[in-house]
Amino acid sequence: MPGTTNPFRPSFGVSPRVLAGRTDLLQDVDVALDEGPGSPLRSLLVSGARGMGKTVVLNELEEIARTRGWLVLRLPEGPDMLTELETSTVPALLAEHDATAVRRRFTGAGVSGVGSVTTEVEDRYPVHRSLTRLLERLSDVLAVHETGMMFTLDEVQDADPQVVGRFATVYQHLVRDEREVAFAAAGLPVGVDQLLRQGGTTFLRRAERVHLDLLTDEEVAEAARATVSDAGRTLADDAVAALVEIVHGYPYLLQLVGYHAWRVDPSREEVTVRDVHSTRPLVVERMGRLVHAPAVAPLPEGQRSYLRAMAVDDGPSSTREIAERMGVPMQQQNVYRARLIDRELIRPTSHGFVDVTLPYLREHLRAQPR
Ligand SMILES: Nc1ncnc2c1ncn2[C@@H]1O[C@H](COP(=O)(O)OP(=O)(O)OP(=O)(O)O)[C@@H](O)[C@H]1O
Ligand SMILES: [Mg+2]
Repeated sequence: MPGTTNPFRPSFGVSPRVLAGRTDLLQDVDVALDEGPGSPLRSLLVSGARGMGKTVVLNELEEIARTRGWLVLRLPEGPDMLTELETSTVPALLAEHDATAVRRRFTGAGVSGVGSVTTEVEDRYPVHRSLTRLLERLSDVLAVHETGMMFTLDEVQDADPQVVGRFATVYQHLVRDEREVAFAAAGLPVGVDQLLRQGGTTFLRRAERVHLDLLTDEEVAEAARATVSDAGRTLADDAVAALVEIVHGYPYLLQLVGYHAWRVDPSREEVTVRDVHSTRPLVVERMGRLVHAPAVAPLPEGQRSYLRAMAVDDGPSSTREIAERMGVPMQQQNVYRARLIDRELIRPTSHGFVDVTLPYLREHLRAQPR
């Protein structure tokens, strides 16, 4: 009896059953955690377009850390990040891992005096001394077990760069102290750039930038096959080819197409090419609603009209023709082009040509009423 539980997970923020690609990055970080303090890949800024798998990568990194017994601290969102860390997250962890700290807390002696500040943090943000001390204490406790702590922060584009900057100062202090710590943040490219500009402490600027790109067709094919077969069915060869073609290397679509193809008839042993093809209208609709509409909505009219001018073509668009269609000079065209490239909505292909980054943006734009 073929499996009936659908193994695909087309939801943002949910890790796939089978991870496609990303192995080099994960291996490098694994090594970095072994290498000890100072290894560059211990501080990561992951960027990529929506649905490219940033949260999934963060989850995997957390898993790598946990596997080696490290503590994972997800940084709380919002303006109270540091206060929350200081008054609730870290004290709770200390309570769990350090018996002395619990006693101190309950006798009301507070936490001052715990741990020792050996280096002064000289940065432009006020030092959160007590948070630093708490983290040092936690790090001391973990050092007994020869482990460390990994901080993660998702959706960086929504965080206040000042707040992240303040955290970075605390983190930098731990790094200078040669403690076993790691930091990984993920966000949309514009958000990460903004963070570096505004919240840019030395540490953030030195952090390793990792840019998540589309998966290769081989990675998509391999993961699709494995996801289906691990769940007790098979994906026919022509079905794999059709899936690869519809997915265009985009991780979210791998899950979405797989999910709906599987659903056509879960009692059948094989997922067929017809099952895969039947998902196409739905793919275009979901991509438009969940990915493209939110990306296009905040754009100024000029950039939106640039995209509409591109949507006329079936493949890469000539920048000269775009300018003509828009009725603007090349120079003006160049400004729009640069902004849209920054947002990773488009990318240059060959000289004088640009293409949309994510699949089905053209279809979405064409379906919009003017
Ligand atoms: N490497 C991968 N292999 C297979 N599926 C993946 C991979 N990366 C992401 N996915 C799938 O793609 C979808 C989107 O992933 P994720 O939520 O991590 O994207 P994101 O970049 O964090 O998006 P957002 O910008 O909305 O936060 C999920 O359904 C996830 O399971
Ligand atoms: Mg995400």
